[in-house]
Amino acid sequence: MDAIPRFSPSLIDRLRTAQRVVVLTGAGVSAESGVPTFRDALTGLWATFDPRELATPSAFARNPRLVWDWYAQRRAQVSSVEPNAGHHALAELEQRVPRFLLVTQNVDGLHARAGSRALVELHGNIARVRCSRDDSIVEHWQEPDDDLPPRCPACGSFLRPDVVWFEETLPQAAIERAESAARDCDLMLVAGTSGEVYPAAALPHYVRAAGARVVEVNPNATPLSALAHDTLRGRSAIVLPSLVRAAWPQAAK
Ligand code: OAD
Repeated sequence: MDAIPRFSPSLIDRLRTAQRVVVLTGAGVSAESGVPTFRDALTGLWATFDPRELATPSAFARNPRLVWDWYAQRRAQVSSVEPNAGHHALAELEQRVPRFLLVTQNVDGLHARAGSRALVELHGNIARVRCSRDDSIVEHWQEPDDDLPPRCPACGSFLRPDVVWFEETLPQAAIERAESAARDCDLMLVAGTSGEVYPAAALPHYVRAAGARVVEVNPNATPLSALAHDTLRGRSAIVLPSLVRAAWPQAAK
């Protein structure tokens, strides 16, 4: 069983009085919903699958159906799970803080399903599909009988998941919004990310450089631990609700 986390009074005070809070999340926050992470040994997706064969433009060019099917499986999987207590705690935090932004690397849509609205999905959303030629979002498509991905109803190009692959750049508006919030906040929570993937992993560095507080929530140490003022070692579905309850005890349900 997880121990009840203990937080320093200065952290609770800072969180309660913060005017601008940014949260950066990664796959770890969805782990307890049953969505696998990427880099955890044994259970991480990249321990089993080679990202170069599944999550790059060249993989899609070489074997479009393999890539399409892999994402279709993950899409079905995330649609069958539920947001956990960590997602809900972040949706509640948004209600308590005057200026709040949740920046996620997750494509599973669980933050939005938990009620988060001030949300930037840096790496896209697996539920959406877009045309591989002009990037327009396509709502309705048909599975073909051949061993190729479905095609864009407008132009006939292959459809692809609306996610960012390795070797691709992030959506400009999303990364700009995330970076400007990070440079201009009082506190950033960094939860459930290995801090291995840039530009997302640069965001806590901007916070630190601006003199604001960085709080890491992760059962394991990461390259970002060294710059965090507080390292809360535990699972996000336990630590995040406890943190919000500790800062706003009157809101405890
Ligand atoms: P990773 O799989 O790299 O890291 C997951 C992190 O979550 C690790 O640091 C774990 O220690 C931590 N973790 C595991 N269980 C946890 C729990 N219950 N509570 C809190 N933390 C937990 O996932 P990301 O950092 O999200 O990109 O990976 C970043 C990007 O790399 C992903 O968005 C994806 C991937 O390739 C793309 O697909 C573009």
